Amino acid sequence: MKVKGKNYKSIWLDKKKLVVVVIDQRLLPHKFKLLYLRNIKDVKKAIKNMVVRGAPLIGVTAAYGIYLSMKKDSSDRNLNNSINFLRNARPTAVNLSWALEFVKKRLLKAGALNRVELSKQIADEISDNDIKCCKRIAENGLKIILGIKKRKKNKTINILTHCNAGWLATVDWGTALSPIFLAHRKKIKIHVWVDETRPRNQGSSLTAWELLQEKIPHTIITDNAGGHIMQHGMVDMCITGSDRTTSNGDVCNKIGTYLKALSAFDNKIPFYVALPSNTIDLNSKNYLKDIPIEQRNSDELTHIKGINSKGNNIKIRITPKGSKVKNYSFDVTPAKYVTRLITEKGIFKAKKSEIKKIFS
Ligand code: MRU
Repeated sequence: MKVKGKNYKSIWLDKKKLVVVVIDQRLLPHKFKLLYLRNIKDVKKAIKNMVVRGAPLIGVTAAYGIYLSMKKDSSDRNLNNSINFLRNARPTAVNLSWALEFVKKRLLKAGALNRVELSKQIADEISDNDIKCCKRIAENGLKIILGIKKRKKNKTINILTHCNAGWLATVDWGTALSPIFLAHRKKIKIHVWVDETRPRNQGSSLTAWELLQEKIPHTIITDNAGGHIMQHGMVDMCITGSDRTTSNGDVCNKIGTYLKALSAFDNKIPFYVALPSNTIDLNSKNYLKDIPIEQRNSDELTHIKGINSKGNNIKIRITPKGSKVKNYSFDVTPAKYVTRLITEKGIFKAKKSEIKKIFS
């Protein structure tokens, strides 16, 4: 996707220096800065501190982390230690453990001598596959948008999204935003309602920035405005990404997604979830028990970050010092509120029998 007209991916391997290059997402939308990850410790820090974030990108970054570690020591012992070191860097997004298991299986089979080159190849493969999946999601999601376009007789289509599930959350294209990017390129009239997504504001900082770069009309709203605009007929469809979807179609995503789905259901507005199939965790059956919900640092809630009029980064406290704070980062939307899952393999009902078809 484009940044000031130039094509970028969210992560790549610098083939000369053999370091991993990422965009420091903590600084967006005010500053576009690349960061170099030179070893597995840098990778863990980048995932934990949300330099990189978004379920698919977390998985890809971890795969490159294993490559950086294999360059130093490709023994079985170091391979197992490296996998364990990264495994819990972020607990909810299943793509992290998916990528680590995928890499581990292949590297264990290969033997220590071949691991450096092979781990690089596998990380590149996971990254390339993510781009392909997201492009397919874009094409499948476009079919839904075209249906709405026909029904609305070419009038502007209003789409609500939560958090950031654009190209910054993946390697390129994104999940929830990819059909929107494609529709815009096909000159379909789109307007996006961007939930700010407290407390880290991935909507108002990252999604809004991505849409601006692609010149897609959008409006940032408070997280609490969704119900209101849905009641007033201002939303034609909702679309979000997912960090982990259970085998029966319950969707875990950024905190607040569930409330949007409830509101959409009450107002008979379709609620779509776009995800690559490696975000589906077939081992998660009971969404209340099987999905670890990340709780992040309380200062995301007690403080707010931004830039002042001089362009300097500032962080200010907004809550009283003595109050207790809980910062739940994700919630689960039960399958009954999900209209369809849009995957690289096609569009499916959020149902066990349909999810089986994705993997058949
Ligand atoms: O905490 P984050 O910023 O990693 O959360 C990201 C989301 O919730 C996205 O919606 C999800 O990872 C799907 S991204 C393609």
